[in-house]
Amino acid sequence: MRTQIAIIGAGPAGLVLAHLLHQEGIASVVLENRSRHYIEQRLRAGLLEQDSADLLVSTGVGDRLLRERMLHKGLYIKFNGELHRIDFEDLVHKSVMIYAQQEIVKDLVAARLGYGEPIFFEVEDVALDGLESNPRVSFTHDGQRQVLDCDFIAGCDGFYGVSRRSIPQDKITVFERDYPFAWLGILAEAPPTEDELVYTHHERGFALLTMRSPKLSRIYFQCPRNEDIKNWPDDRIWEEFRLRTAGDGRKLSEGPILQKGMTDMRSFVAEPMQYGKLFLAGDAAHIVPPTGGKGMNLAIADVRVLSRALTGFYKSGRSGLLEAYSRVCLRRIWKVQRFSWWVTSLLHRFEDDNAFDLRRQLAEIDYVTSSRAGSMTWAENYVGLPMEWD
Ligand code: DHB
Repeated sequence: MRTQIAIIGAGPAGLVLAHLLHQEGIASVVLENRSRHYIEQRLRAGLLEQDSADLLVSTGVGDRLLRERMLHKGLYIKFNGELHRIDFEDLVHKSVMIYAQQEIVKDLVAARLGYGEPIFFEVEDVALDGLESNPRVSFTHDGQRQVLDCDFIAGCDGFYGVSRRSIPQDKITVFERDYPFAWLGILAEAPPTEDELVYTHHERGFALLTMRSPKLSRIYFQCPRNEDIKNWPDDRIWEEFRLRTAGDGRKLSEGPILQKGMTDMRSFVAEPMQYGKLFLAGDAAHIVPPTGGKGMNLAIADVRVLSRALTGFYKSGRSGLLEAYSRVCLRRIWKVQRFSWWVTSLLHRFEDDNAFDLRRQLAEIDYVTSSRAGSMTWAENYVGLPMEWD
């Protein structure tokens, strides 16, 4: 088998890249180790920046998104039991929306299969070779070993994928930060408590109220790292949410819990994002903690840069944009790393924080919500930094 671009991973990064390349007449093959059902049902974050959505709409895969998305022109930050609103429209003239990651995946898989380009699901034993000059991907599919020759490989296979691990260790530098907590998240059959997202600071720890539809709430709260979800029966989860979101007399909207799970918190960057003919994109190269909902948007920003660089290469034969890929992406990535770390440290309780830290944290949240400059800093980053900066 031969193709121009072998794409490892059918998450948002791999599928958006495949779609953008298709638009430019560049052939690709997508390999995914999970089943189609798994990637289309997997519950992940749901916050989409305006520019990410515009890209999907302008390339013809945004019809359902435009019908079903929930547009948000602001958000709430709650602390000391009171709600404070940040108004994106007023501050930065942009908005964000809720449209779940697995819905984007469904739309992109349907589009790709619709125009007859290949996705191999449930591949096993993927191996990358010849990265310096003759890239080649071997894998097993339906019990048969296959070899895919290509011009370039796009490693879009997430933090635990094979792509980053295929780069010699001395050719890559890793920057990492751990957090002493995780998130417990639920999907519940309950209308959202507020019309917009609520980021809550509480002495017992952070909580976030978000949503998936007018009838479905998605709620997260901070809990100790390595917590066993078995310790959290439904009643205990609701009791904890009630405690953390109480204060202003508003009643938490509750209902049957449909799904629950834990999310790790990590900041991670691997540099550079290229080795020979292999380019890393999305979680394969960087992880942000979930606070602020930046992970998927960053993945989409990466592949926009990569598809432009590959298109430039095939149209003009010049490799300048490919050589600049890592540098261009990392400028955005580090700013988004900084923002995700900042909102995480602003709103969570840390093991070793003392009474001073708590007062200082509350003062900073008070500043962010009452000063126009403070709110502007949150809003400008939250809605997505301008593409013109890339
Ligand atoms: C969602 C998750 C986030 O981490 C966030 O900051 C906003 C929204 C979500 O899953 O809807």
